[in-house]
Amino acid sequence: MFTNAAAAAIARASSMTPAVLRARASSSSAVAATAQSDICRVTVIGGGQMGSGIAQVAAMKKHQVTLVDVSQEALDRGKGYMSKSLKRVAKKKFPEDAKAQEQFVEEALSHVSLSTNALASVGKAELVVEAVVENLKAKQEIFSTVAQATPDNAILASNTSSLPIAKIAAPLTLPQRKRFIGLHFFNPVPQMKLVEVVRTDETEQKTVDDAIAFVKGIGKAPAVCKDTPGFIVNRLLLPYMMESIRLLERDVASARDIDTAMKLGAGYPMGPFELCDYVGLDTIKFIVDGWYKEGAGLKGNKLFESSKKLDELVEAGHLGVKSGKGFYDY
Ligand SMILES: NC(=O)c1ccc[n+]([C@@H]2O[C@H](COP(=O)([O-])OP(=O)(O)OC[C@H]3O[C@@H](n4cnc5c(N)ncnc54)[C@H](O)[C@@H]3O)[C@@H](O)[C@H]2O)c1
Repeated sequence: MFTNAAAAAIARASSMTPAVLRARASSSSAVAATAQSDICRVTVIGGGQMGSGIAQVAAMKKHQVTLVDVSQEALDRGKGYMSKSLKRVAKKKFPEDAKAQEQFVEEALSHVSLSTNALASVGKAELVVEAVVENLKAKQEIFSTVAQATPDNAILASNTSSLPIAKIAAPLTLPQRKRFIGLHFFNPVPQMKLVEVVRTDETEQKTVDDAIAFVKGIGKAPAVCKDTPGFIVNRLLLPYMMESIRLLERDVASARDIDTAMKLGAGYPMGPFELCDYVGLDTIKFIVDGWYKEGAGLKGNKLFESSKKLDELVEAGHLGVKSGKGFYDY
């Protein structure tokens, strides 16, 4: 279990590797032929960055989407994000045809309705995706409330980056927990192909299959994994970054040479230090500290121990691209 701040840092880290993920996703067996999903009505709870993105990609594939938030202001902002992003997609899709662009945007938005009432928005839902703040209690409360009104066969999904899926589902009944799953989208949702499909020990196979079909149906690539800290992407990226920093500390090679080696030798679009600077060194430190000190199954694991070099850079305010200096100068 992580602190909220650590959770938020991990959430941000989920958007860390667009280039790496794009390159890998295109050659992944996860990108199978588009599956037919029976899911038509989707309720997305949380109209922020992630929720509006999830609503958008579902609406683009003609799902009937209700986007729910506690705040009307957030919903209006979410609709603004969707509009802007849809216009970008439309421009790429119909570069020479302004009318077709407009129609595309209007058509997608016509599939989205907005609501500040979660309970009233799930009565016909076949899938409920929660994307509210990274707070266990808030997420548990939402599911305890809406599970009373969702149809018995609806899938309940959380987009959490870091909270254990089983803990979010814990207050629910067993039949509800069998229909509970993690759907971890990446930021920005319209561009990022991957969705980690996270199953708990109680998630039934039909829920996994239906979730996979939904993910493929909206043009994304599912990667199924168990309910463990960092799921797949963040669990592998953080040790890679930390090992790279330790190589540098041992003076094995310069940051530039390590980056060159990984780009040209391993085919990564970015080297580890470019990636660290892009993500933010404070974010990386926050995540590894959280896992090293309190991560379930990771506590005390040397792979996640911070390093002198990382601590010094963060202490000095050299956080990477955002501060103008990290491993490199910007
Ligand atoms: N931002 C990322 O890069 C990223 C990536 C993957 C996953 N996630 C996860 O997605 C979730 C949302 O992240 P975000 O970046 O979109 O956050 P955000 O802050 O942009 O949006 C959260 C929204 O939830 C709303 N909200 C809060 N409590 C609510 C409630 N009880 N009912 C309805 N709405 C409520 C807020 O008003 C806000 O609009 C988090 O769990 C996060 O860990 C984030």
